[in-house]
Amino acid sequence: MKISAIVAMDSQNGIGVNNQLPWHLPNDLKFFKSVTMGKPIVMGRKTYESLGRPLPGRLNVVISSQQVAAPESVVVLKSIEAALAYVAQQGTEEVFIIGGGQIFAATLPILNTLYITEVHTTVAADIFFPEISMEDWSLDWEEAHPTDEEHQFAYTFKKYLRK
Ligand SMILES: NC(=O)c1ccc[n+]([C@@H]2O[C@H](COP(=O)([O-])OP(=O)(O)OC[C@H]3O[C@@H](n4cnc5c(N)ncnc54)[C@H](OP(=O)(O)O)[C@@H]3O)[C@@H](O)[C@H]2O)c1
Repeated sequence: MKISAIVAMDSQNGIGVNNQLPWHLPNDLKFFKSVTMGKPIVMGRKTYESLGRPLPGRLNVVISSQQVAAPESVVVLKSIEAALAYVAQQGTEEVFIIGGGQIFAATLPILNTLYITEVHTTVAADIFFPEISMEDWSLDWEEAHPTDEEHQFAYTFKKYLRK
């Protein structure tokens, strides 16, 4: 099973503030949807609460040490290992780690593929993606987008494969 992560981060690896995304970038949400659709997504309890609902068309797996109030379709498990074992049992070819900071920090060493949206700004973030050793990764694809009426910041989609 391929383990992939998808994240949008600023120039200082900032990914969140006040349990929300620090920006509104509709094209990044569309990109996230197109990349993850049909695949299981694994997230921490805080990210699930931030989303406020399961994301449709994907098996939603939430990691928490507690009971989480969630619809029956959402699978809540007590560890990252349990979450990955569960999705592997479903015959999954690729699972997406979708955050947040705690879950990215714990899974970075085992990721095969990394989709990063670089947001070309620095926000006052309170949650960060862990430091990435770029020598471990090779850039497979990238696509740059300028600011426009809907996008306050320029951003670049990048796909990295572990060397
Ligand atoms: N920019 C992006 O691409 C992106 C993507 C996703 C999220 N975010 C942002 O990231 C922020 C949330 O990240 P976060 O780091 O605060 O929280 P998080 O990683 O989403 O969730 C943390 C929670 O997950 C559970 N957890 C984590 N590790 C665990 C383990 N090993 N075993 C059992 N449970 C574990 C715990 O839940 P319990 O406390 O219930 O035990 C913990 O409190 C938000 O601001 C969100 O908007 C940004």
